[in-house]
Amino acid sequence: MIPFNKPYLTGKETQYIEQAVRSGKISGNGQFTQKCQQFFEQKYGFKKCLLTTSCTDALEMTAILCDIQPGDEVIVPSYTFVSTALAFVRQGAKIVFADSQVGHPNIDAERLEPLITPKTKVIVPVHYAGMACDMDKIMALAAKYNLLVVEDAAQAIDSYYKGKPLGNIGHLAAFSFHETKNIISGEGGMLAINDERFIHRAEIIWEKGTNRAEFFRGEVNKYGWVDTGSSFLPSEIIAAFLWAQIEHLDDIQERRKKLWNLYHSNLLGFENLTGLGLGFELPNIPDYATNNAHMFYLVCHSLEERSKLLAHLKGNGILAVFHYLSLHSSEFYKKMDNSARILKNCDTFADCLVRLPLFYELTESDVKHICDTITTLKK
Ligand SMILES: Cc1ncc(COP(=O)(O)O)c(C=O)c1O
Repeated sequence: MIPFNKPYLTGKETQYIEQAVRSGKISGNGQFTQKCQQFFEQKYGFKKCLLTTSCTDALEMTAILCDIQPGDEVIVPSYTFVSTALAFVRQGAKIVFADSQVGHPNIDAERLEPLITPKTKVIVPVHYAGMACDMDKIMALAAKYNLLVVEDAAQAIDSYYKGKPLGNIGHLAAFSFHETKNIISGEGGMLAINDERFIHRAEIIWEKGTNRAEFFRGEVNKYGWVDTGSSFLPSEIIAAFLWAQIEHLDDIQERRKKLWNLYHSNLLGFENLTGLGLGFELPNIPDYATNNAHMFYLVCHSLEERSKLLAHLKGNGILAVFHYLSLHSSEFYKKMDNSARILKNCDTFADCLVRLPLFYELTESDVKHICDTITTLKK
């Protein structure tokens, strides 16, 4: 069976973990944490980074930093992972779901303005598959209505919008290092802060509402409870693992892009002519976006055709998967808001999108085999 994902180990993970253990400092905010944070700050120009135990945690920190109060509205795409919305719901926000674009799972920036009300506080664009949302339009709306922008960059490490690193455009951003992402630490994430106003408070929220980080830097002579917060910081063991991945970032990106391009060139021209007699669309990369090869996906023409394709691939030893279910029709959200919403494009991606296996150790012949299974083989 070709798995959907296989976490890639660069080879140095256990060595760095051992180094962390032997150093005698295995709780958070030690040397490996600081090395990782500095790397991202320097490479992508974030004003400040804080490693977190997940992207979900980083998003929860953004909801606290944006000072979400009960009744505040937050605009979130419906085609996204639960955490994008849940982080704000936990602070009492009302989620206003936005639709995807016609040919792309990303939020449709052209149709956002009518969703803004006097209660709107934040817009959360999600860079699906590591491909940028139209950030100029979103930032212009935010400036016009005095809103904050939190980029959900869970999938978007090392990807760019008009030359700017993703996660560096909104006021705040959240990344994931979950084992399915390009660089990983099992579970893991990061808050990136671009608006300096948030830096001081973020560090406190990160450290259980205390000013312990300042104390450890010798800036205050005792630390105590000064704000809300939680234990958002990961242990040094996680950071040591992540450092081994960071050292191989370029190599990992190159390999993933090579496999992505191989998928694309093997499937191009077969959109209407698969062995199963069904059609699909290839991913569409907006001209303002780069592709970090986080994901290779196809969009089938119907739910039935997608089910047929997934079953066909599984029958041939290939594990492909679908992705998000529309959040606006989820069981949990409907308990809060049962008004019938129609977000047609989102529902299309929920019904029709297929993710093909993509991981560092996938071979060229695996990709060829998967493409042949889609384009030529009959059941
Ligand atoms: C868009 C998006 N946001 C947030 C998350 C949550 O990430 P994590 O698992 O690191 O909490 C995910 C998970 O895949 C995601 O796809």
